[in-house]
Amino acid sequence: MNNVGDFTELEFRKKAREFPKGVFQQLIFLPVVSSTNVFLKEGLKRRTLPMGTVVVAAEQTHGRGRFDRVWFSPKGGLYCSLSLRPKTVVKNTSLIPLFTALAVVKTLLKFQIHSLIKWPNDVHIHGRKIAGILLESEVENNAVNYVIVGVGINVNISTFPDTLKVPATSLLQQLQKPVSLVSVFSEFIECFHHYYTLFLQEKYNEILYEWKLNSDTIGKHLVVRSGALEIDGVAVDVDDFGFLLVQTPDGIMKVSSGDCEYLDGL
Ligand code: BTN
Repeated sequence: MNNVGDFTELEFRKKAREFPKGVFQQLIFLPVVSSTNVFLKEGLKRRTLPMGTVVVAAEQTHGRGRFDRVWFSPKGGLYCSLSLRPKTVVKNTSLIPLFTALAVVKTLLKFQIHSLIKWPNDVHIHGRKIAGILLESEVENNAVNYVIVGVGINVNISTFPDTLKVPATSLLQQLQKPVSLVSVFSEFIECFHHYYTLFLQEKYNEILYEWKLNSDTIGKHLVVRSGALEIDGVAVDVDDFGFLLVQTPDGIMKVSSGDCEYLDGL
């Protein structure tokens, strides 16, 4: 029996039976893995894992973040990746990271933790990151082949290295007590399933409305960095695809991906 963080594989399997059927077909538990995203991607490519597989690891040796950053992944965190093949036009997949962040915010609320989303999908509390989302997808002939949604939530992590690019926090630091990883995971699966269902029903406006309610980005003076591009302005809205609209002296610029830095503090 593997110990996955503070719960046994058996407890985890019991909970997994309650998970919504249809989307999630199989759960894999790993005491340690390089990266749940990489493991899942390789399994899908070799066809050794079916679509709908969810991978959870107690620890990652090479946890990956956006823009090839490292994701700090010691025991105590929740590291999971979900594989999906939504029947949707490719363009709409840009909404997936946004509603995944929403699912994380709602999960944390169940534990009385109030967090906010920094566009597009950083979940933070007063500028300290508590969760991150890494989406990887493959498109073939203008159809989505797979989407891997990787989610890292800092659950029972007591301290973080000073070298992290963005300061971090955890449920343990916020609540001053440890929290069951299996309960965080099952709440997340439930919340994710709720928003994924809205997405498949094409209720995009509902998703975007809720995203805006739970984000602190709109109205902020910020810099958005996307590769070599750097846009300085005021975030005025997100469009139907979740792209950020930034008012600059040269007009409104539309940004599809990037990293935001708020210029007037948190
Ligand atoms: C970010 O904010 O930069 C995204 C972090 C995503 C981390 C998760 S942990 C589970 C999955 N496996 C990975 O290697 N990364 C994602």
